[in-house]
Amino acid sequence: MAINYIRVSVTDRCNFRCRYCMPEGKKEFIPHSEILSYEEIAEIVRVFAEFGVRSVRLTGGEPLVRKGIESLIYQLKEIEGIKEVSLTTNGFFLEEKAEKLREFGLDRVNVSLDTLDPEKFSFITHSGKGSLSRVLRGIENAREVGLTPVKVNTVLIKGFNDSEVEDFVKFSADYGVEVRFIELMPVGGEFFSRENFIPVSSVRELLEKKFGRLEPVKTVKMGPAKSFRVGNTGAVVGFIPSVSQHFCSECNRVRLTSDGKLRLCLMSDREIDLKSLLRTPGYSRELLRKTIAGALIAKRNINGIEALESLGCSRKMFTIGG
Ligand code: GTP
Ligand code: 5AD
Ligand code: SF4
Repeated sequence: MAINYIRVSVTDRCNFRCRYCMPEGKKEFIPHSEILSYEEIAEIVRVFAEFGVRSVRLTGGEPLVRKGIESLIYQLKEIEGIKEVSLTTNGFFLEEKAEKLREFGLDRVNVSLDTLDPEKFSFITHSGKGSLSRVLRGIENAREVGLTPVKVNTVLIKGFNDSEVEDFVKFSADYGVEVRFIELMPVGGEFFSRENFIPVSSVRELLEKKFGRLEPVKTVKMGPAKSFRVGNTGAVVGFIPSVSQHFCSECNRVRLTSDGKLRLCLMSDREIDLKSLLRTPGYSRELLRKTIAGALIAKRNINGIEALESLGCSRKMFTIGG
């Protein structure tokens, strides 16, 4: 599978603290000096673009807490070969930032939203009162300014949001956004347990029972989600079977962590230290090209082997960006 997509985590910091993503009591973050500068990120993406990457997704932590993110978006959109720059966010800052992000060239956003209940929202994100309504306004705003299609990411958690599946169907129709149900992955610290886990297949069965056969939506497939129309509700839902099905053979992506490590697979700790390379005296782009060429060959070899066995993912999600 050709690698045409890179996920770039621009910060490990976040204004939320979702229980499945960040360990309780987390206080220490990567020092600023160890975080890639926007110029360094652009330099790496420039070389990936030469190797066929067409799409960049900015992630975090929360990418919108990093200052001047618009200027990075602008720089990335200027790179020859880059067709799309998108961003995955918790939505909290979208109300104020969506318009400017669009102006600077951002194409679309995916927004994390695990519950439609304000109290449950505060519980899962460790955020204050009013956060849910702010996120909802952010989603609306993103749609209005054209950061579309807006997709919502809902991580399934047993006993927490499995009772809200039909509410999310209604939400999808009302807000004109696709809602993607995601299997909880065991990479966020202590929160994951077998008791918390729900396979997306059970949500699919539930929806089919209620609304009849789900109609596949034909889209250019960029990621692991499969999308469906739900009866005549006007809703579109997607499923991301991150745990129950392995889509490694279809994997089109690599990841760059905020501290400059190239990660070949979400589930594998095999990383290549691009930051050190960029910061070596006498750095040349040719050296970066050679390193990335080597990494892409290694990536082909780990697909379906390392990833399938989920060999050690010792990082927590907020340092990788999902
Ligand atoms: P689109 O381009 O809109 O399809 O984005 P996306 O779904 O690839 O990105 P997003 O950041 O919205 O991620 C949604 C969920 O998919 C998150 O929980 C990610 O961790 C998960 N995900 C993305 N890529 C992979 C992958 O390669 N492997 C696994 N297991 N999960 C992934
Ligand atoms: N399992 C599944 N999805 C996760 N995300 C963060 N942590 C986990 C996890 N442990 C999702 C967030 C966000 C995306 C980047 O990854 O909800 O939408
Ligand atoms: Fe922050 Fe996103 Fe992690 Fe929640 S999932 S703590 S919003 S980075």
